Amino acid sequence: MAATDNGPIKMRGAGYYSEHTQGAKLVIDAAIPLVLAAVEKMDLFAASPFAIVDYGAADGGTSLALHHALIAAVRARTDRAITVTHTDLPHNDFSALFRLLHGLLPGKPGLGLEAPNLFSFASGTSFFRRIVPDGALNLGFSATAMHWLSKLPATLADHVHAVGAKGAARAAFAAQAAADWETILLARARELAPGGRLVLANFCTDENGFYLGWTGARNMHATFAEHWLALREAGAITDDEVRRATFPQFYRSVAEFRAPFDDPESAVSRAGLRLEDCFTRVTKCPYAAAYAAGQPPSAFARAYVPTLRSWSESMFFGALDPARPEDERRAIIDRFYDAYEADVAAAPEGHGMDYVHCFLTVAKTV
Ligand SMILES: C[S@@+](CC[C@H](N)C(=O)[O-])C[C@H]1O[C@@H](n2cnc3c(N)ncnc32)[C@H](O)[C@@H]1O
Repeated sequence: MAATDNGPIKMRGAGYYSEHTQGAKLVIDAAIPLVLAAVEKMDLFAASPFAIVDYGAADGGTSLALHHALIAAVRARTDRAITVTHTDLPHNDFSALFRLLHGLLPGKPGLGLEAPNLFSFASGTSFFRRIVPDGALNLGFSATAMHWLSKLPATLADHVHAVGAKGAARAAFAAQAAADWETILLARARELAPGGRLVLANFCTDENGFYLGWTGARNMHATFAEHWLALREAGAITDDEVRRATFPQFYRSVAEFRAPFDDPESAVSRAGLRLEDCFTRVTKCPYAAAYAAGQPPSAFARAYVPTLRSWSESMFFGALDPARPEDERRAIIDRFYDAYEADVAAAPEGHGMDYVHCFLTVAKTV
């Protein structure tokens, strides 16, 4: 399971995740033409249900529109049953996921995923393992999840993310990311039926060297590091807590994503996976766009920082010494994000979290 020594990775629950991640939904919406093109290429005349799996789905809110489009495309060509399995790690808020899928989340009545002859499942098994039986997958989808590594290969003394790592530490992250990518693909190779497809929208480092939160203006990860190190300067956290605050993540390059496919002798190629499509795309930060359109700085800061918090909070919280009382840890975390918010409100120019993705379509040939 992907976890740090600092406790479980999890998005904030009770629907907070999809409420505060408009950008992630825009990324998934951009993948809709890819899943429709993938279905178009498939032979749908099997007797078994058409099986869709969404890997690392969080509360499921951001991919609802994609699943509606995908189910409609399959249904237009066949009456066979369709299954959708949402997966995530065990600590995910699956209750929020089920409420969302059944249209029961407050404020979102009727906005679920229900259709005739559609069967909904969920799995708390990590995508580093097989989640469905061999040959039982037709269309696998995943967005913004596979940058999480199976383990933290190094800790950083002066940064919080591999984008700021150098030398041996950086090499350790790259090696872990390559091994994890192969593990993920080999598990999917077992799951996919012949002719099945994977459509993946994975965070990456693109051809310009850009990555999430860095497209040439303020660097989000550097800003995280600045505010976390400032807590140490202020005596609020220890050296150990600085080191432990390292994301178990890596933004692979296009070459790193392609490597197992470009080598015909690789285990992935020999398992029958072929890369059909691979391109990068920047999705502009919707919060920064609202500020550029005239939103006051304080309102921008209040809307923007929660989107960072939705996915980063569990890592920073887990880095704090568990011997501290829970209230004290919560207060430190609030102070950290409040400082980030005050920074954005005081000097909003250049802040933003542009998403940088590599979109891949992979086919199973044998
Ligand atoms: C940023 S959220 C993305 C959610 C949704 N797919 C989207 O694009 O909006 C990343 C999700 O990946 C999940 N995740 C991380 N590592 C995972 C693993 N090894 N197996 C399954 N899910 C994982 C996290 O728990 C989290 O819910």
